[in-house]
Amino acid sequence: MGRLIWFSQILCLSFMLLQFRVQSSSPSQSSLDSLLHLCRPEERSALLDFKSTTNVVLNDVSHGLETWNKSIDCCLWEGITCDMTKGHVIGLDLSRQRIEADLTTNSSLFRLEKLQSLNLADNYFSYPNLSFGFQRWKSLTYLNLAYLGFPDNSLLFNEVFLLPKLVSLDLSISPGSGFFHLDNIRFQMLVHNLTELRFLILNSVNMSLVVPSSLLNLTSSLEYLGLRDCLLQGNFPSQVFQLPSLQLIDLSSNNDLRGNLPQSNWSSPFKYLYLSDTSFLGELPHSIGNLKFLEELDLNNCQFSGSIPKSLANLTKITYLDFDSNLLQGSIPDVFGKLHNLTYLSFFSNCFSGEIPTSIFNLTSLSFLSLSSNKLSGSIPSFFFDLVNLTSVGLSSNNLTGTITATMLSKLVYLEYLDLSNNSLLSLSNNGTSINYSFPNLQYFLFSSCNIHKFPSFLRKAERLQELDISKNKISGQIHKWEIEGMSVKYLNLAYNFLTDIDSFGFGNLVAVDLRSNLLQASLPILSTTWDSMNQLYISGNNLIGEIPSSYCNFTSLGVLVLANNSLRGKIPECLRNLRSLSILDLRMNKFHGKIPNLFVTNSNLDTLHLDGNQLEGILPRSLVNCSNLEILDVGNNNLNDTFPHWLGVLTELKVLILRANQFHGAISNSMPAFYFSQLRIIDVAQNDFTGLLPNFSSNQFHGPIPEELGELNSLLILNLSHNSLNGQIPSSLGKLAELESLDLSSNKLEGMIPEQLTNLTFLSILNLSHNELVGHIPEGKQFNTFSNDSYIGNFGLCGFPLTKKCHEEEPGAPASQFDEEDDSTIVFERKFALAGYGCGLVLGLSLGYIAFITGKPWWLVKKVEKYQQKLLGRCNRSNKKRKPKTPTNARR
Ligand SMILES: *[C@@H]1O[C@H](CO)[C@@H](O)[C@H](O)[C@H]1NC(C)=O
Ligand SMILES: *[C@@H]1O[C@H](CO)[C@@H](O)[C@H](O)[C@H]1NC(C)=O
Ligand SMILES: *[C@@H]1O[C@H](CO)[C@@H](O)[C@H](O)[C@H]1NC(C)=O
Ligand SMILES: *[C@@H]1O[C@H](CO)[C@@H](O)[C@H](O)[C@H]1NC(C)=O
Ligand SMILES: *[C@@H]1O[C@H](CO)[C@@H](O)[C@H](O)[C@H]1NC(C)=O
Ligand SMILES: *[C@@H]1O[C@H](CO)[C@@H](O)[C@H](O)[C@H]1NC(C)=O
Ligand SMILES: *[C@@H]1O[C@H](CO)[C@@H](O)[C@H](O)[C@H]1NC(C)=O
Ligand SMILES: *[C@@H]1O[C@H](CO)[C@@H](O)[C@H](O)[C@H]1NC(C)=O
Ligand SMILES: *[C@@H]1O[C@H](CO)[C@@H](O)[C@H](O)[C@H]1NC(C)=O
Repeated sequence: MGRLIWFSQILCLSFMLLQFRVQSSSPSQSSLDSLLHLCRPEERSALLDFKSTTNVVLNDVSHGLETWNKSIDCCLWEGITCDMTKGHVIGLDLSRQRIEADLTTNSSLFRLEKLQSLNLADNYFSYPNLSFGFQRWKSLTYLNLAYLGFPDNSLLFNEVFLLPKLVSLDLSISPGSGFFHLDNIRFQMLVHNLTELRFLILNSVNMSLVVPSSLLNLTSSLEYLGLRDCLLQGNFPSQVFQLPSLQLIDLSSNNDLRGNLPQSNWSSPFKYLYLSDTSFLGELPHSIGNLKFLEELDLNNCQFSGSIPKSLANLTKITYLDFDSNLLQGSIPDVFGKLHNLTYLSFFSNCFSGEIPTSIFNLTSLSFLSLSSNKLSGSIPSFFFDLVNLTSVGLSSNNLTGTITATMLSKLVYLEYLDLSNNSLLSLSNNGTSINYSFPNLQYFLFSSCNIHKFPSFLRKAERLQELDISKNKISGQIHKWEIEGMSVKYLNLAYNFLTDIDSFGFGNLVAVDLRSNLLQASLPILSTTWDSMNQLYISGNNLIGEIPSSYCNFTSLGVLVLANNSLRGKIPECLRNLRSLSILDLRMNKFHGKIPNLFVTNSNLDTLHLDGNQLEGILPRSLVNCSNLEILDVGNNNLNDTFPHWLGVLTELKVLILRANQFHGAISNSMPAFYFSQLRIIDVAQNDFTGLLPNFSSNQFHGPIPEELGELNSLLILNLSHNSLNGQIPSSLGKLAELESLDLSSNKLEGMIPEQLTNLTFLSILNLSHNELVGHIPEGKQFNTFSNDSYIGNFGLCGFPLTKKCHEEEPGAPASQFDEEDDSTIVFERKFALAGYGCGLVLGLSLGYIAFITGKPWWLVKKVEKYQQKLLGRCNRSNKKRKPKTPTNARR
């Protein structure tokens, strides 16, 4: 938001500059006659020559060049400014014309030798030659060549040095097209040669080779410095912040740029200070209060710490204040009383505690407020709802208390976005509002994990409501038809409540519904909604009975259908094959019987199929090979009777294959072509009737050694070969399973030593080698220091830590665990999480799939959600704890 403002400021300033330059000579009405003869013929022909070399890229955009024709004096052409006395063209503005041209050495533009101002921004110019004629523009003071999409041509800078009168220079390029390099030598030349510069803007130019201390040589007359996304790295010299004329500095999105704000005597005429997404750190200085002209301050996602200085109270011109995602703490000082112009205030994701300072409620212009993800407590006072200009409010993930009533909310007439989630003591009451009040602008109403007991029926008339999230509350019993009828919501999340019945679904345009983990009984709800709008349906974890109604086959746009953990029975309806968009089908833990129907059409989008824990029988349908995107196939705990599905080996995305506890039988072939199950990470064929030589797997009748080749399955997360008759040594190649988190070789006849290479498995958190015939010294170090006796019991020849039996040569005293309590518990937590499913990496993937209830949220929200997910791993709560060098799992995803 701030960016746009400053961008337009710059344009505006540039424009003023241009006006200023030519003002003395601008045409007065009376001199229009002489103007007709003002244009100099040689300059007119230069311009016409230039026109003849251009192409218009987008024909539908009208462009100024259309006015360039001989019948009009060239001083009247669009984009041209002339000197009134001599008739020279001194200004040329062709910005945003969508024209395409080459700037060669011979370009006729270089014949305009009196040019003072040139703006070609946002066109498609290319530079086929490596040298141009810039030196002929001796009078140029203003040059804007931003966003031209030129190829790698850092030599352009060599030309720019030849323009000693330049006051304003903008050579920004589009983000991500980082081929435009400015090296340190050229940057030095630039700052030495261009001593008149007041505006320097090089956004997204690759300046990774520029030493930040070079910026110390910038001229003291500099007013605007735009170096956003320039790959600057190292220490930024804080003296630059003290340049006496500086009004704007934008260093944002230079992630590796470190630095501090000046700690004392800071006073500059700053209006705009943007440091977001950098590594600036340290405390915010008290002297920040000296920046009396400051209008926008964006410190989003830096590493500032300490508390907020009270001197903020003096920034009376401030309109935009963003301290998101730092390490700030303490209470938010009560300093907002005089900041009447503040419209955007965000302290999201810091460690602020205490109550919301009351002076915030004086900010009547405020439209955006986020205090989410802190440790704020106390109640939300009723005068909060007098901030009538609020459009977006985030107070989630705090410890706020009290009851919000419908009447209070109805005062915020502009409100579009409200997130009060994760305040476990905060409740919501339907009281007061006339049932016809429409909350005319409300789009997002997020109140998850609070203390709500009743469905907020007052939102029935909210015409623009997109998302209603009241999951994880205490809403019980029935939702009546009148409470929801006609509601326009698209994303409805009622998961984790105590609902027993939903009268019917009278919604118009539902896109996603989440009813997981309620107490719904009887049969699956019949949803009357627009059939082809519904995309995600989650009704798992209820007490539903009966069959899947055939009407569900009419949800032709359905991408996710999750009905797991109910008591549904009957056959899986064949008509589900109509759901051509389905990517996740989860019918786990029900009572479905019969064969798995032939649902799997060519070009199927299915990537996840869970049928675990039913009573399915027969064979795996061979049409599963049509699911070329299939990543997870889980048919464990059924009565399937088939041979090993080699034919699935061609599915190059398949990562998880669970066949456990069925009646699969026969041999599993040993031949594995390179593509065969090439992505497989988890395979579980335990409790079947497989026979013959390995490649696997637990509770079968495998015998012989573990094949060395298993080490090639280097994305394996879990390997369970327990309860077989495997013999021989543990192959050292298993040390190559770099991602392995769980290794269970228990209850076999393995012999020899435990290979030292297994200590390379830095993510290994579960090891079970018990009940084998292993001997010798248990390897030490890394993860091996975390395993207990249980990993090794029943191997009478093993010795060393953690067993009490010492090895002969060993001196007493086992090596101490490298992990302190704190990190151990973290790991345990992460483990628990991991093992709730099939392995950590995967579970993260899955739960994201489930959480990602993708909505059309505004970009800034999405950004925040992403950040919040990062933050879950911990800024506020874990920031002071040392990171261990090898924290397993989460680090990778
Ligand atoms: C600018 O730099 C160039 C080198 O590229 C040098 O030749 C020229 O003399 C410099 N001009 C000024 C005014 O410093
Ligand atoms: C500033 O420029 C001078 C040459 O005029 C140079 O010697 C010095 O190293 C430069 N300072 C920095 C910090 O680059
Ligand atoms: C605000 O500025 C005034 C005068 O410049 C100064 O006296 C006062 O201490 C400042 N207030 C804070 C909280 O820094
Ligand atoms: C607040 O904004 C208004 C309108 O933009 C302006 O007139 C006023 O001077 C501003 N107040 C301060 C203290 O800057
Ligand atoms: C803030 O509002 C309160 C009451 O709403 C008022 O008493 C106080 O004077 C206001 N403060 C400022 C600085 O406007
Ligand atoms: C709301 O904002 C508008 C425009 O920014 C302003 O004119 C109006 O005074 C504000 N309302 C209040 C109560 O401050
Ligand atoms: C939350 O607030 C309540 C009362 O306001 C308090 O009892 C409780 O300890 C707080 N919890 C946390 C985690 O701060
Ligand atoms: C809501 O209204 C009921 C009855 O009118 C009243 O008992 C209750 O206290 C009210 N709750 C709130 C939060 O105002
Ligand atoms: C589902 O679609 C079929 C065919 O398009 C139609 O006959 C049937 O009535 C639809 N079912 C419902 C419940 O709308």
